[in-house]
Amino acid sequence: MKKILIIGSTGLLGKPVTKALIEANFDITLLVRDKTLAEKLFPKARIIKGDVQNRADIEAAMQGQEALFLSLSVKQTEKESDFHTEGEGIDLIIDVAKQLKIKRIAYLSSLVHLYQGMNGFDWWIFRIKQEAVRKIKESGIAYTIFYPSTFMESIFYQSKQGSMIALGGKSEYPLYYIASEDYARQVVNSFKILTHESRDYVVQGLEAFKQDEAAKIFIQFYKKEKLRTMTAPMFIMKLMGLFSQKFDYGYHIVEALNKYPEKFEAQKTWDELGKPSITLKEFAKKL
Ligand SMILES: NC(=O)c1ccc[n+]([C@@H]2O[C@H](COP(=O)([O-])OP(=O)(O)OC[C@H]3O[C@@H](n4cnc5c(N)ncnc54)[C@H](OP(=O)(O)O)[C@@H]3O)[C@@H](O)[C@H]2O)c1
Repeated sequence: MKKILIIGSTGLLGKPVTKALIEANFDITLLVRDKTLAEKLFPKARIIKGDVQNRADIEAAMQGQEALFLSLSVKQTEKESDFHTEGEGIDLIIDVAKQLKIKRIAYLSSLVHLYQGMNGFDWWIFRIKQEAVRKIKESGIAYTIFYPSTFMESIFYQSKQGSMIALGGKSEYPLYYIASEDYARQVVNSFKILTHESRDYVVQGLEAFKQDEAAKIFIQFYKKEKLRTMTAPMFIMKLMGLFSQKFDYGYHIVEALNKYPEKFEAQKTWDELGKPSITLKEFAKKL
């Protein structure tokens, strides 16, 4: 399968996958809202300006494609009543994909969203993510679903606030941090080897750390700036969440990451798509 439409290529995790698929000589088309940005990032790709809220834009981008790669998210500022690319957006994408006889849908999910329902945890964002997986699996189209652990990038691009790495509460289980470059290589390999079969791939890195341990390693080997950790108690995060959508998001994601009992489950992914090679220490040094 050579002709792939990517939706979400300008995002934090869409970028490395798009770059890797272009470098591996796939025939790539991007559906983007910001064409100028996409042209700057990916001068070699075919770029179509559009929005997932608009069926005509999805149809225009999907014409002549064989497969889709979806790297979508629910933004920290989105309200439950808003349009969600992983909610109504996925419905539209699947509908058009059936109409245009798309052969494969590859989708970036997450491992931690499986915390939904554990210890009574119920969050509307994880419900949307669970539903997205269910809808793709029931579409009748072959699928590849990636369930990554925490990305190393999230320490720098999401937890870093000024000169501090922000943590919350107590991290109970170690997480198998993965670098997006290793994940992107696995995505490329999945498009190379899969034909008609569907697959669920857990994406995990070489070493597992609790979040405070990971932050310490990152700080030790990141030399461009002196950083330190700051830990907020969960009750403060919960309280702040009552007044701000962004803090409510922060509270829920930290609660789930602290308590999801992550185990190593990526052996099948490593066997089929290759073993990751980047350690957290190397990642921090290279960033
Ligand atoms: N961070 C982690 O450690 C981690 C771990 C496991 C899984 N994940 C999963 O990774 C996923 C993606 O994360 P990310 O950080 O890459 O997200 P992101 O940076 O928010 O990227 C989302 C992408 O979707 C595009 N988009 C948004 N609304 C759109 C619309 N209406 N029409 C067309 N395109 C639209 C965005 O385009 P614009 O550039 O125009 O906004 C962007 O390219 C999340 O769902 C998360 O659950 C993350």
